Formats: sequence, C-alpha cells, structure tokens
Amino acid sequence: MKFSLFNESKSPEVIDLFKRVFSASEGEAEGQVIADFVAKIITTTAPQDLIGYIAEESEIVVGCIFFSRLAVPSGQVAFILSPVAVSTDIQRTGIGQKLIKYGLEHLKSLNVNLAFTYGDPSYYSKLGFEQIDESTVKAPCPLSQPIGWLAQSLDGQVIHPMAGPTQCVEALNDPGLW
Ligand SMILES: CC(C)(COP(=O)(O)OP(=O)(O)OC[C@H]1O[C@@H](n2cnc3c(N)ncnc32)[C@H](O)[C@@H]1OP(=O)(O)O)[C@@H](O)C(=O)NCCC(=O)NCCS
Repeated sequence: MKFSLFNESKSPEVIDLFKRVFSASEGEAEGQVIADFVAKIITTTAPQDLIGYIAEESEIVVGCIFFSRLAVPSGQVAFILSPVAVSTDIQRTGIGQKLIKYGLEHLKSLNVNLAFTYGDPSYYSKLGFEQIDESTVKAPCPLSQPIGWLAQSLDGQVIHPMAGPTQCVEALNDPGLW
C-alpha cells in the first residue's frame, strides 16, 4: 500500500472511487451526489485550500481523503476532513485509519494547528478527534447531528473557545451536507 498526496491527474479515478464506494454503501443516488461534491471541491477550491491524500495498491487508487481549509476566528490554521472513502472490498482492513493518520502527520508538518471533521465519533475518536461543542468552535453550517462535530489540536495546544463564525470552502458550504 502506497500513501501519497492527491494531484489533479488522479481526479477521474478518485471521483469514480467515491461514486462506487457511496453507491455501494448508501445507494446510487448518494453515490452520484458524492461524486458531484468531490468533482466540485477539486475544481472550485484554491490549491492552497485543498489537500488530498490517496492510498494506492498496484497503482490503483483504493482510498482517498480530502482536507479543505476552515477559516476560524482565532486566526489559527485549520483544515476539515471530508470526504473519506476506502474501496468497498477492502474496508475494515485498517486502510482508512492509516490514510487519515498519514494525512494528519503531513498537516502537522505544514504547521496546521487544528483538524476538524463531521462524522461518526466512534470511528474518528480512534484517530484523535474529540467531540467539540459549538460554544467552543462554531460549525460553518447548521448541524443536523451536533454529536458528529469533531476536532483535534495538531500543535499540542488546547483548543480554546473562540467567538465568531467559521467559514468553509464553497463546495462544503452546502447545508445539505451538514
Ligand atoms: C468509513 C471508511 C472510510 C472507514 O475506512 P476503513 O478502511 O473501512 O476503516 P478501518 O479499517 O481503517 O477502520 C476499521 C474500524 O473502523 C470502524 N468502522 C469502519 N467502518 C465503519 C463505519 N462505516 N461506521 C462506523 N465505524 C466503522 C470499525 O470500528 C472498525 O473497527 P473493527 O473492524 O475493529 O470493527 C470506509 O469504511 C468507507 O469508505 N465507508 C463508506 C463511505 C463512508 O461512509 N465514508 C465516511 C463518510 S465521508
């Protein structure tokens, strides 16, 4: 298994991966929604605001994650993890966790202060994410499941409450995703 940075030459393969994985887990309509979302985040996000990582086996992309910039009122450097996919046939073999750890280590090397995500706390807690109350850091859109608002410090500093709104990239700024 090889982990590396995403680049745009991998876009068609990555979009297809998300479409297949989410069609299998959530149905074809959701597969298309995610494929469209991934295409949008790749094409509409400024290069400095989007960092993706891929897992490849025999030159085939079997996992992909994206982090996009989240502007936070403290002025710290923050990115949010979304979305994540591992090829259906090899899920639950540790690839998702290894890929996310790889991404988080790379973000640390770039001096990113904070990582956020919105997902299943039982999965992401294995990767250092903790539930965070919106009185500490607001989510960029209203949350349908506040329990899934998660964050971790990447610089060893405690996450202090910060007043004011946060701003995600345009592709994520869709209430339907939250
Ligand atoms: C969710 C996903 C990325 C996890 O990646 P993975 O490589 O399969 O997971 P890992 O092997 O690294 O981790 C396995 C552990 O995570 C947990 N886990 C895995 N998939 C899970 C899921 N769908 N829900 C909750 N927990 C899950 C389990 O506790 C599992 O441990 P166990 O095997 O001891 O029970 C992958 O299953 C996937 O692509 N699912 C479909 C798309 C999706 O739901 N993406 C996340 C939302 S963007």
